[in-house]
Amino acid sequence: MLRVINVVGARPNFMKVAPIVAAMKRRPTRFQPLVVHTGQHYDAAMSDSFFRDLDLPQPDIHLGVGSASHAAQTAAVMERFEPVVLHEKPDWVLVVGDVNSTIACALVCVKLGIKVAHVEAGLRSRDRTMPEEINRLLTDQIADLLFTPSPDADENLIAEGIPRERIRFVGNVMIDSLQKNLKVASALPTREQLGLNGTDYALLTLHRPSNVDLRESFERILDALEAVATKLPIVFPVHPRTRKTIAELGLSERVASIKDLRTVDPLGYLDFLNLSSRARLVLTDSGGIQEETTALGIPCLTLRENTERPITVELGTNIVVGTDTTKIISAAMTALNNSTRKDLRQPPLWDGQTSERILDALEEYAL
Ligand code: UD1
Repeated sequence: MLRVINVVGARPNFMKVAPIVAAMKRRPTRFQPLVVHTGQHYDAAMSDSFFRDLDLPQPDIHLGVGSASHAAQTAAVMERFEPVVLHEKPDWVLVVGDVNSTIACALVCVKLGIKVAHVEAGLRSRDRTMPEEINRLLTDQIADLLFTPSPDADENLIAEGIPRERIRFVGNVMIDSLQKNLKVASALPTREQLGLNGTDYALLTLHRPSNVDLRESFERILDALEAVATKLPIVFPVHPRTRKTIAELGLSERVASIKDLRTVDPLGYLDFLNLSSRARLVLTDSGGIQEETTALGIPCLTLRENTERPITVELGTNIVVGTDTTKIISAAMTALNNSTRKDLRQPPLWDGQTSERILDALEEYAL
């Protein structure tokens, strides 16, 4: 029996951990899963609703760290996670993604000699100003098992000197959640409730510090959105960080003045999937949404200068456009005018079975 602590901290972790915990519950004689929530995200809309939507069991342990500077938040997770590991004595700790909770918990484990596995290992933007890039690099250096979502991730790890035997290419676990929930999400009345007409809308998310914490980049993006919104309504679920910086940068009136830029509170997993699966265009600076739109075949413009998920550009629907106003407008117009959809090509092993492969690998490792 493998006793596994599954760590969740922030919004993009929940849809990665839910299928893994569900798969462990399907192998009750071999896995004993525990869920530890660090509390990095704590709002109902950023956390609680995801447990409901994804059928993720309530956390066995909640560390309640909340928001703080990166150092303070990472340190708080470490301080509170260490006694949990000492008490629970897990065989494995499983961390996912690239948030501060990921590196904090991985670091606690290696110092205690507890085995740690990293799901979504090996992704690299090569932009070390991104907090997530540092979290990814460091977590991959210290974790015992690295579960990769795409072949480029394996190549990155090998180039960094990670021994091959620590790497397992298992595919993208977010797609397990997407496939499981698409039908239920599609049947929800989300679009009707937002007064959207058919599929004639775009969907926008923005939360990267490099976009929303700086007035110049935020204004360049707003200028582009103003032009795109003359063509079709843009639904914009606003991340708490973004809501805060809109107010701090004095941009509230500007945002409100853009006709048909429809700001709403952050959406739950199913409501967001309802919207993303039928949008004509998605504009985002999120990593996971680049992957979901590729799986769904929905055109995606990434409002960043780089991506750690190049497979979504090579095989999928993603275009990395940056934050230049003219480039965003031009890419959006091209996407909207192009009615022929790219052939839907799924990256290898984005097949809904990734969580099973992760469990197989954990069992095999134990032999
Ligand atoms: C974090 C992750 C990022 C991920 C994003 C998804 C890191 C370094 N960043 O960024 O990789 O893409 O989550 O959402 O781990 N806040 C609330 N309520 C909450 C959570 C946050 O109001 O439930 C506000 C607080 O003002 C906080 C700010 O949002 O200071 C930023 O939160 P934080 O967890 O530091 O980073 P995110 O920008 O959410």
